[in-house]
Amino acid sequence: MRTSVLQTKKLSKSYGEGANQFFALKNIDLDIKKGEFTAIMGPSGSGKSTLLNMLSGLDKPTSGEVTLDGIHLSHCNESQITQLRRDNIGFIFQLFNLIPVLTAEENVTLPILLAGKKDKSVNKKANDLLQLLGIGRLASSYPSEMSGGQQQRVAIARALIMEPSIVLADEPTGSLDTKTGNDILTILRHFCDTKNQSLIMVTHDANVASHAHRIVFMKDGELAGDIQLTATPKVNLSHITKRLEDVYA
Ligand SMILES: Nc1ncnc2c1ncn2[C@@H]1O[C@H](COP(=O)(O)OP(=O)(O)OP(=O)(O)O)[C@@H](O)[C@H]1O
Ligand SMILES: [Mg+2]
Repeated sequence: MRTSVLQTKKLSKSYGEGANQFFALKNIDLDIKKGEFTAIMGPSGSGKSTLLNMLSGLDKPTSGEVTLDGIHLSHCNESQITQLRRDNIGFIFQLFNLIPVLTAEENVTLPILLAGKKDKSVNKKANDLLQLLGIGRLASSYPSEMSGGQQQRVAIARALIMEPSIVLADEPTGSLDTKTGNDILTILRHFCDTKNQSLIMVTHDANVASHAHRIVFMKDGELAGDIQLTATPKVNLSHITKRLEDVYA
């Protein structure tokens, strides 16, 4: 039995007051295991991004609780949450949020720099990750010199470099062609299966979701279904396994 890494208990989020009160999330009970790749699907406005914001502590729930690695977020002050987020969570936002004046490599190493952990191996690790994601030759390029899909891959490398226990992703392959998207999802799935990393990914695309272990459906702020996918994805991992071993040597 896998252990839990992230749990919510009766998590609710409302906006507005009185007659105008609107619940974006209603009593969400969710249990995410270590190494689990969970896809979240649901119509526009169903609360997917709101849920990610609560899970990461970026926004506070109206009621209910989020527990990350056994720590109740509601018991933490702002600086504790910032540190928890920095050390435990990797983000891949829909908009990539790259720093325009930094190169791809510098963008990727930034989280390590901010955590005060930089040493010589970090640059190699950043380059290996960029290579793994198919954009090694762009390490010295600036975001303005890259396509949207290339920038998205830099953002993915930046989310992975700290080896966080959880990665939260909002449509991480939305800007990529099908083949590149499938390759990246294969890599992300492999990180879950071999590094015990948990990934929670919002997507509107059933093919993208098919890479996950589990799909959680949302509707009108509520959980509307939860299915386990038993079949392993029909992809050949051998060509990337070696690279992964290099990156995490
Ligand atoms: N700051 C806010 N103030 C008021 N309502 C909000 C706010 N943020 C989100 N909402 C509402 O909460 C609901 C859920 O929004 P959310 O962004 O979580 O949807 P989503 O499922 O991510 O949709 P999409 O697939 O379009 O990204 C929506 O009806 C939205 O209008
Ligand atoms: Mg959204």
